[in-house]
Amino acid sequence: MDDHDEPRTAHPSRKAVLRAALAAGVAAPALLMGVPALARTSAASPGARLALTPTCDDGDDPTPPQMEGPYFKPNSPRRTSLLEAGTPGVRLTVSGYVFGLGCQAIPGVLLDFWQADVNGAYDNTGYRFRGHQFTDAQGAFRLTTIVPGLYPGRTRHIHVKVQAPGHPVLTTQLYFPNEPRNATDSLFDPRLLMTVRDAGGAREAAFDFVLNVRQSPGPSPTATTPPPGGTWAVGTTYRAGDRVTYGGRGYVCLQAHTAQPGWEPSNAPALWRAE
Ligand SMILES: [Fe+2]
Repeated sequence: MDDHDEPRTAHPSRKAVLRAALAAGVAAPALLMGVPALARTSAASPGARLALTPTCDDGDDPTPPQMEGPYFKPNSPRRTSLLEAGTPGVRLTVSGYVFGLGCQAIPGVLLDFWQADVNGAYDNTGYRFRGHQFTDAQGAFRLTTIVPGLYPGRTRHIHVKVQAPGHPVLTTQLYFPNEPRNATDSLFDPRLLMTVRDAGGAREAAFDFVLNVRQSPGPSPTATTPPPGGTWAVGTTYRAGDRVTYGGRGYVCLQAHTAQPGWEPSNAPALWRAE
């Protein structure tokens, strides 16, 4: 059983943990003190296990955006694994949580990943190494893929768009530690470094996003506004080009998906365009 098969519980309050650590005279890891993208405890020694408990920044520093670049394509398939039969490359998992500003993990967040293949090439005709998924009820995501190859002018990276229900899209990129080109790529941002460890010839990476979503103390709020009427319906599978009505307006589906609460057409510009 690996870490990811064990139950994971979203951390209720990192501030409380930090306070307790400070009160007990325990040094809080420097990485946790000011760099949200490094919020997960670093696995310092080879073979060390990644922390099971998600941590979060203290809430005032969202994950920074990065340029989309020339290779994004809408309508990626919904899937958590980008591997296909015979896919070459070092296996990589990227897992983590999506938090709001209050350090509460957010379920139902759309994450759309795209990356280069082992040779550093993007698939601009099909959808290889492209896929979207949603965080689960605990606000967790997990991507199975390969370590992307290098291409001229850039260090190693994975592109992602992250969108909480009813909120704007965060477009950014994730980076790998100990890459020589990190020092020369002008886009590289250490706040977007993943924690990466070796795992029997594969790699296991962790990264927690912090979105610019205000949260009040207490139970995590979820967007479950009752539908104001229309043909749009939770549980329905929509394809790009499908048309629905919702709240008295018409919408065109931009990306195939299964409708779920919080992703009403009026809330989800990544999925629906108003007509
Ligand atoms: Fe890229």
